[in-house]
Amino acid sequence: MKISIIGGTGYVGLITGLGLAVHDHDVICMDGDSRKLNKLNNGELPIFEESLPELLKEATDRNKVVFTNNIKTAVRESDIIMIAVGTPESKNGDTDMSQLILALKLVAGFMNNYKTIVIKSTVPVGTCAMARMIIKDNLNHPMIPFDVVSNPEFLREGNAVRDFLKPDRIVVGVDTPESEGVMKELYSTFDAPLIFTDTRSSEMVKYACNAYLATRISFINEISEISEKVNADIHAILQGMKLDKRIGSHYLNPGPGFGGPCLAKDLKSLINFAGKANADLPLLKAVLERNGLQIKSITDYIMSELKDVGSKKIAVLGLSFKAGTNDTRNSPAIHLLEKLADTKTTIHVYDPVVKNLEEPLHSRVTFPENIEDTIKDADCLIVMTEWPEFKELELKAVYNMMKTPLIVDTRNIFAPDKAHNLGFQYKGIGIADSLYKNIDVPLKNII
Ligand code: UGA
Repeated sequence: MKISIIGGTGYVGLITGLGLAVHDHDVICMDGDSRKLNKLNNGELPIFEESLPELLKEATDRNKVVFTNNIKTAVRESDIIMIAVGTPESKNGDTDMSQLILALKLVAGFMNNYKTIVIKSTVPVGTCAMARMIIKDNLNHPMIPFDVVSNPEFLREGNAVRDFLKPDRIVVGVDTPESEGVMKELYSTFDAPLIFTDTRSSEMVKYACNAYLATRISFINEISEISEKVNADIHAILQGMKLDKRIGSHYLNPGPGFGGPCLAKDLKSLINFAGKANADLPLLKAVLERNGLQIKSITDYIMSELKDVGSKKIAVLGLSFKAGTNDTRNSPAIHLLEKLADTKTTIHVYDPVVKNLEEPLHSRVTFPENIEDTIKDADCLIVMTEWPEFKELELKAVYNMMKTPLIVDTRNIFAPDKAHNLGFQYKGIGIADSLYKNIDVPLKNII
């Protein structure tokens, strides 16, 4: 089939376009960003993502993808037009739909025959219905037939190529048999359950999934807090929980709070449009609130342990919002640095792929070239991202390099007993320092 992706050099647009191209569709990735288009036309990628170089190579070697800023050709030459533009949070808390609305208007103006318009962007429930009206109002030839379809994405950064090529399921919201037929053909070569719903339910599936994942993370972060206070061990607790098949093992890693451009943004958007539909969502509001507490309690711990923080040196490992990506949007590490930046403490940072930050943070911190130079003479080592090379660090060598052996491991990547045996003061999430010092919690704190 012939497919155009509007927003085709963005994260979702590019992976979707290249993924469909290797499934033998003819894809046009259309975008207004000439810098990214130039890169792609030179065989370079504008984003860091595992397996994406191979996907780009395969799609281009087979001549299955074109990168262009020509929206007119993109629309006219395609059967399916996928819209994958950004829908960020606007200042008043609403979802900013301006890019989507502009894309719909432009597409409508260039349509020359029947098109299936697929909304990939994450959008409030009811957007497909709104899109139909926008297209109708902007058609150049009023009688051109079209359908609007919802097809949310479930791509995780760092895992997105696998998530696209081997999805758990594909969700499609349609309102006509004709568009259902088109979408069946589009995904006919994918080995995954294809779920058809109405467009509103499909739009809601996306929010329900992200809200549920966020809820699990906030839940385990809350259990971690209480575990620390009563000297229980989150590793042991998770072992006991995960084997319960009803609970399972995913999205239960305690940490510095969920970051990135999606979970928090989508939760806020859901709470916002639910409010307009008279639904208050107290549980999901609490999930967000809990998330904000993580960085606060980590910072409070560091400040209280370091005491005269202005005279100390802090080493931070990891800047991206999770391992496997160079994305620092809404990264817990950045939120931590912003808090530490207000003090006079010396901050050394290391990340395998992030080598720049936005100002004024960039000038406030030092970027040593390697992990060793980052840790050397530090009074506190803070692990913010679970990159494999951090997990492989030899703790004894780390101990010998640091000035004061204090580790704050917000991803629980080190073995706490090993750290303690070496002489570290070790603080994980859900693992109190006192757990390994045989300090009993006073009974009055428990019963
Ligand atoms: C998330 C969803 O997982 C995708 O399905 C969805 O398509 C995407 O948002 C989106 O809406 O576009 P992503 O934000 O890339 O994907 O990353 P996740 O792997 O879900 O992680 C989000 C945050 O939660 C990260 O900061 C991560 O470190 C944190 N996390 C994740 C935990 O703290 N604990 C966990 O157990 C899992």
